[in-house]
Amino acid sequence: MLKIIGTGRAVPDFIADNAFFERLVDTSDEWIVSRTGIKTRHILTEGSLTELAFKAAKNALDNANIKPNDLDLIICSSLQGDYITPSLACCVKSKIKATCPAFDINAACAGFIYSLNVAAGLIKSEIYNNVLIISAERLSKFVDYTDRSTCVLFGDGAGAAVVTEGNALRYINVGTEEGIELLFANSGLPQNCFTKKREQGFITMNGPEIFKFATQTVLSAIKDVGKRLSIKADDIKWFLLHQANGRIIDTIRKTLKQPQEKFPENHSKFGNTSAASIPMLMDELNREGKFKKGDLLFLSAFGGGLTKGSCVITWDK
Ligand code: COA
Repeated sequence: MLKIIGTGRAVPDFIADNAFFERLVDTSDEWIVSRTGIKTRHILTEGSLTELAFKAAKNALDNANIKPNDLDLIICSSLQGDYITPSLACCVKSKIKATCPAFDINAACAGFIYSLNVAAGLIKSEIYNNVLIISAERLSKFVDYTDRSTCVLFGDGAGAAVVTEGNALRYINVGTEEGIELLFANSGLPQNCFTKKREQGFITMNGPEIFKFATQTVLSAIKDVGKRLSIKADDIKWFLLHQANGRIIDTIRKTLKQPQEKFPENHSKFGNTSAASIPMLMDELNREGKFKKGDLLFLSAFGGGLTKGSCVITWDK
């Protein structure tokens, strides 16, 4: 179906540490680190999400050693691009000077896995060959910086991957669960055409319920992988989990009785960057030369919707 031939990432310059939030709301570095593992996050205070997504895309194309003209399709996953229209994918396409089709997917934090699923189907049916996937998020746009229960969690960032025809994707499964009210944010724009009354557009979340959903999602995906591929958690070299927070990841790791080094993390530096978290992490490991050809990677994400998605992919670059 597909293989990954290049990765890229980009984060904005402005860094908000926990002391920054201590000045904004009634919180502490101790509370944030012990409950989430997050120490800093990057926030897009200048420039556009398109520019951030473009940098990640450019890095991924260079890493894959392919030119924008060789692309057959661009898929962007994001909660929201810079515009309602054009899509973020079209904005990036224009900036990298590609000529291929481009569209957006919104599957919240599971957006990268959903995009891989769509790309795999289109490559398998021989409609497209080289697909650029970008997951770029400006969560700071939706964060209420007076709500201590959510504002400390999220950061902005972009991750990208170039995929092409290959046999590396061993398993992929995306889905949904009931629970729209557990994690949501609206556009903040007026919905009623006559009153033009603005909606409150901030992220609202039931943290404890999302915590349960997240751990159950990843653990049941691992069970399903075990059944379908006849492999155990021990056979997986890298667990690239959505970087929502450290306690979720640690609960999963301990249940699976796996060592820490198989669960790389970037939430301590970047917070929860939604769909961008997994491709950003993948790019970091790729550039550090951590992946060896043939390594089995398990990717799993969960988010608003509720969306979920997991896959097993062999590193074949
Ligand atoms: N600083 C200090 N106290 C805080 C706080 C903060 N930033 N945020 C919340 N609290 C307080 C609450 O007000 C509450 O106080 P109370 O007991 O006086 O009412 C207390 O801490 C416990 O709140 P609770 O929500 O039960 O905390 P928790 O242990 O569940 O941790 C999360 C909160 C958000 C860290 C945790 O629920 C979580 O990680 N959930 C998953 C979130 C997630 O990953 N979402 C994204 C998925 S894509």
